Amino acid sequence: AAPLRLGLAGLGTVGIGVVKIVQKHADLIAARAGRPVTITAVSARDRSRNRDADLSGYAWETDPVALAKRDDVDVFVEVMGGHEGPAKLATEAALATGKDVVTANKALLAHHGQILAETAEAAGRVIRFEAAVAGGIPVIKALTEGLAANQMRRVMGVMNGTCNYILTRMQNAGLPYETVFEEARQLGYLEADPNLDVGGIDAGHKLSLLAAIAFGTKVSFDRVELEGIGNVSIEDIRMADDMGYHIKLLGVAQMTGRGLEQRMTPCLVPAESPLGQLQGGTNMVVLEGDSVGQIVLRGPGAGEGPTASAVMADVIDLARGFRLSTFGRPATSLVEPVAAKSATP
Ligand code: HSE
Repeated sequence: AAPLRLGLAGLGTVGIGVVKIVQKHADLIAARAGRPVTITAVSARDRSRNRDADLSGYAWETDPVALAKRDDVDVFVEVMGGHEGPAKLATEAALATGKDVVTANKALLAHHGQILAETAEAAGRVIRFEAAVAGGIPVIKALTEGLAANQMRRVMGVMNGTCNYILTRMQNAGLPYETVFEEARQLGYLEADPNLDVGGIDAGHKLSLLAAIAFGTKVSFDRVELEGIGNVSIEDIRMADDMGYHIKLLGVAQMTGRGLEQRMTPCLVPAESPLGQLQGGTNMVVLEGDSVGQIVLRGPGAGEGPTASAVMADVIDLARGFRLSTFGRPATSLVEPVAAKSATP
């Protein structure tokens, strides 16, 4: 069968992870997909940078829009990040020239998911974004496929590994926020704009995407009640601990009689619960459906291998001919949510 040809935009941690999987698992992927998956061209800002992968077989573009428009690309894989500028333009260009899109970009979809999904649908294309939420955890597939028969009641969890690292390190080592924040910076855990992490914005993006899938509502990131972890002090953590609680940056989305509640805020969770026990950069997502009850997924929410694993799962779906609509149902059927203020502070 003809190979599925990828255009890979972005050669940072995730992009290099994708290259490695495509090369290392060529046979396994071809066997599972029923056809080979190849990379034809890549793009990144800086060609001269030394990268930990063999890129010699691929055509180079400096402009991701040019990459997205290439005739020898079937699927545009966007792992650059950023919700305005090149990532958005290139995604639009890919859809306009007949490509499907696989993206790890939660910010782009949280801000423009509805219009992009409608654009894709009108063009007969799909956008898949498993890697955008909780890294290596296949939570989008769990919701859209495994739990497709359920009326979802609630989606919640810890979806930013950096915040969870900071909070658990404060807890375990008794160190103040500022010290651990600096540590996280030195370990390279923080986003280029750290406020995306510690301000709860990155996690809020992810929650808004899960809510859209779970409840059939238009992505409404602007209605997520957001509070980051910048005001969590070591005294707060000690006091919580004395009462048998840990503080986690917890996201909750649920449909209530009053409408859709979405909040991403520091919360007290019982110390001995699975969420309370969650350590370091790990993510945990809890899904509650009317038939299935509660499902708990735990795993790496970031990093080269885990995020590339999720990107490639979407690519393999497309290679198999599985073309699920972006939010698991037609984009034009998503309804405007009635936003409810949460009852709990
Ligand atoms: N900064 C994010 C995190 C990366 O720490 O979880 C994955 O989105």
